[in-house]
Amino acid sequence: MSDGEKSGEGAKGAPSGRKLDRREVLLALSTAPALGLFGYAWSRQRGYEQRQNESASPERALPADLSEINVALLGAGAQGQVLLDSMLRIPGLRFRAVCDIWKEYNQKRVVNTLRKFKFEVSGYEDYREMLDKEKDLDAVVIATPDFWHARHAVDCLTAGKHVYCEKEMSNTLEGARSMVLAARETGKLLQIGHQRRSHPRYLHCHEKLLGEAKLLGRIVTVNGQWNRAVSPDIGFPERYAIPAERLRQYGFKTMEQFRNWRWYKGLGGGPIVDLGSHQIDIYNWFLGAAPSHVMASGGLDYHDPQTHEWYDTVMAVYEYETPAGSARAYYQTQTTNGSQGYFESFMGDEGTLVLSESEANYPGFLYRDPSAPAWDEWVRRGYVSAPKLQQARPEGEEATLDVRESVSPDLHRVPVVLRDPYHQPHLENFFDSIRGKATLHCPAEVGYETAATVLKVNEAVEAKQRLSFHPDEFRVQG
Ligand SMILES: NC(=O)c1ccc[n+]([C@@H]2O[C@H](COP(=O)([O-])OP(=O)(O)OC[C@H]3O[C@@H](n4cnc5c(N)ncnc54)[C@H](O)[C@@H]3O)[C@@H](O)[C@H]2O)c1
Repeated sequence: MSDGEKSGEGAKGAPSGRKLDRREVLLALSTAPALGLFGYAWSRQRGYEQRQNESASPERALPADLSEINVALLGAGAQGQVLLDSMLRIPGLRFRAVCDIWKEYNQKRVVNTLRKFKFEVSGYEDYREMLDKEKDLDAVVIATPDFWHARHAVDCLTAGKHVYCEKEMSNTLEGARSMVLAARETGKLLQIGHQRRSHPRYLHCHEKLLGEAKLLGRIVTVNGQWNRAVSPDIGFPERYAIPAERLRQYGFKTMEQFRNWRWYKGLGGGPIVDLGSHQIDIYNWFLGAAPSHVMASGGLDYHDPQTHEWYDTVMAVYEYETPAGSARAYYQTQTTNGSQGYFESFMGDEGTLVLSESEANYPGFLYRDPSAPAWDEWVRRGYVSAPKLQQARPEGEEATLDVRESVSPDLHRVPVVLRDPYHQPHLENFFDSIRGKATLHCPAEVGYETAATVLKVNEAVEAKQRLSFHPDEFRVQG
């Protein structure tokens, strides 16, 4: 998988029209008796599977309050298929069209999948022809390479469609700006695919743990990373190679470049955009501010410059003036060693929060500083799990510790588990917003602020200098 996001993994999920409580949000895990919890999870799982079987069919009767939405998928590659997997679990969607320039392979595969689910879909190579012919479309979900996003999104919005566009909003700020303006001018919805914004664990942390309980005190430092092992050339089956002329028409020089577009300048935005933008988006969100400065060091330390135009390693430091005071945030992404994966860590004077989108790694740990006020109230209310007490010396170990060494703070967990595919809540938020039942969690303006924050790292790498942001850089005038 491309972006490394193990999208679509995990337990089978299914739609129903409910909001947060329809997920597997297991509050107060720590207090649930083990067998009861098992029984609960088992019955939920059966319910999910049953609803999933029901949801995928276009012939299924819809609840009266659920209007049907006609949807097209533009870009049916790795991520397009992950999004489709989530969308097939959401009731009330009628798939009408699939557009992809790789007609013989990705387009055909996704059209066939949808026909198996009994949707009457047409396949297109050219999105303009699709917009021309498919007059009834309400929404287009875009998962093409980053350098196509602006054109695709602007033209779909202008044709009167609501748009869900994958991150990065665009590989250029000009492209991102044109998308914000098109959304404003057309009045159509534009959701950017930073799916953590709809993840129940992130929402719980933002609203309850940081907003209401203020468990971390004042956040002073942030740390995060996405470490990824070396990825080989993705490759392609020879017999399905796209003719050279068609490749050129769509901006790719070779099949190798078409498959590994992330490695090339002008097509993707480099690893900080590909991987880091999800997490740096969370820095801004949780700190309630955009940064004032950034410095960064990055380079091509490992890969072959013949195939990799972007750096493979980058380390960035942002400075923030948050409503609570100054903060510094470190972020690294490197593509040569996947050890310790990806997470974000927020450190305040009363506690630390370490979390990630992944259910497997860092699904939400909290450490209370020994000098902070007790968290009993928040444990009682199910906001955090009961603590696992830490010991000064690991049991059974004979090592002598220095008497001045601090005891490790107690470990709590964020008791929220997502059992649906990672992208499903964000897509649901998009479709619920089209129906007027929600507001977008990541509208164009938010996506733009994140794009401005992240793309500046590439400038700082080039400049080898600490760069400042002007507050106006995060907003689109007009
Ligand atoms: N939110 C996430 O977690 C996440 C995860 C992975 C990828 N992404 C994003 O999804 C997008 C797609 O990434 P991917 O990994 O699926 O790439 P991919 O190369 O696997 O798929 C891209 C697809 O778009 C098609 N395509 C290319 N140009 C086109 C055009 N002009 N018109 C129509 N189709 C075109 C290709 O044929 C291919 O099928 C990227 O923007 C990426 O950043 C997001």
